[in-house]
Amino acid sequence: MSSPSLIIAVDGYSSCGKSTFAKAIARWLGYTYIDSGAMYRAVTLYAMENGIIGEKGLDRKKLIAALPEIRISFEQDPATGSSVTLLNGRNVEEKIRSLEVSQWVSEVSRIREVREHLVQQQRRLAGHGGVVMDGRDIGTVVFPDADIKIFMTARPEVRAQRRYKELKEKGVEITFEEVLENVRERDRIDSGREVSPLKKADDALVLDNSDMSVEEQMEWIKEVIRKKLEEKEKKDADRS
Ligand code: DC
Repeated sequence: MSSPSLIIAVDGYSSCGKSTFAKAIARWLGYTYIDSGAMYRAVTLYAMENGIIGEKGLDRKKLIAALPEIRISFEQDPATGSSVTLLNGRNVEEKIRSLEVSQWVSEVSRIREVREHLVQQQRRLAGHGGVVMDGRDIGTVVFPDADIKIFMTARPEVRAQRRYKELKEKGVEITFEEVLENVRERDRIDSGREVSPLKKADDALVLDNSDMSVEEQMEWIKEVIRKKLEEKEKKDADRS
């Protein structure tokens, strides 16, 4: 399907299936998908690789001073067709998904200067639209005027079950209770931080996908997009 250049913001809790959903929307529309979480993960990896995160923890001042050196971009992997994250031109897609990066990324993403730096890059990457971006603050901070805002949620037990299955498939030794505790802890950190906490934008549509398949979610969003495009067309016709 081709359509004018909408900006679609997908925010929500961790392990809600945001990226699967956002990627599927981008594919359907022929839009660019931008994973803003990958950008916070790439900054965290940079800090780990450059002695900014070490035995003494995270050196906040050093990280802020290094921000101008950190350039994040995305490119299409010709083999898989999926998007990969580049840190200063190097493919770090696999590295940014490590457990160690996951453990440090909340600390990094609560630093105001890091957020300001990445929000600027996110706006630049979105260009003139035709983009689906997922994260925690896309509809509230990055694109407060996004054409469509989705706030995704699902029951913590459902999200923990999805994450538990993923980790087990990767061979990670962990119990369901530990995963559930981790999901609740991440919700607490994401929603409770001082700078750009995760919260639903007033004009966001809530999608609780606890009991929905990906196909059902796609049917739902296709209807939302169709309505938005009709609305836009009507506005344009009224104007001319
Ligand atoms: O979506 P994810 O789990 O890959 O995100 C990694 C971390 O980055 C997560 O702890 C929250 C943070 N994040 C953020 O603060 N703002 C965003 N727009 C995206 C992610």
